[in-house]
Amino acid sequence: MATAPELLKPTPSTAIRPMASPDVAEVFAIERAAYAFPWSAGIFRDCLRVGYLCRVLTIAEQICGYGVMSMGAGEMHVLNLCIAEAERGRGHGRRMLEHLLERGAAAGMTEAFLEVRPSNTSALALYRALGFEQVGMRRGYYQAVNGREDACVLKLTVRARRAADT
Ligand SMILES: CC(C)(COP(=O)(O)OP(=O)(O)OC[C@H]1O[C@@H](n2cnc3c(N)ncnc32)[C@H](O)[C@@H]1OP(=O)(O)O)[C@@H](O)C(=O)NCCC(=O)NCCS
Repeated sequence: MATAPELLKPTPSTAIRPMASPDVAEVFAIERAAYAFPWSAGIFRDCLRVGYLCRVLTIAEQICGYGVMSMGAGEMHVLNLCIAEAERGRGHGRRMLEHLLERGAAAGMTEAFLEVRPSNTSALALYRALGFEQVGMRRGYYQAVNGREDACVLKLTVRARRAADT
């Protein structure tokens, strides 16, 4: 049970905001710790440069997660979604994914796609919880320690919503 002083501590404020170039070093540190085959810092900079939707999740203004998504021709593609290990299991991944999907729907997108390793059970559980369904498999898509690993292709149909609808 929490002690009285703990109960009086304010909850650190969580926010989602656009990623900017100065954030890339912190984002890359989380990326490197999270994946065996991480994106380089240059890939994040490229995503910013080409105008992909890049967001960071902050807790008390410290970056604890991020999401990257491309949009076009009615489709959104979730390219990266990651929460720092110490902050997982607290709803932040779901919050970030819902934010990306909301933004896509507000921009008129009607379908969301993503790829995930079949071995990534926590990510698969999150995607399924939000209604994503498997629509394909890309053979040998990912690098893996022992060669290559397949990718499950997941899809979610969303109701297109213009920003003015809200
Ligand atoms: C996948 C990831 C983003 C999930 O973020 P998270 O903040 O831990 O997830 P949440 O706390 O929002 O959980 C949301 C839902 O995901 C599922 N989930 C999350 N972690 C899980 C776990 N360890 N085991 C089973 N289900 C899990 C549950 O359905 C959960 O809903 P619930 O809390 O109502 O049960 C996070 O684990 C991560 O960053 N992993 C490393 C990077 C990665 O693999 N990204 C995905 C690449 S495709």
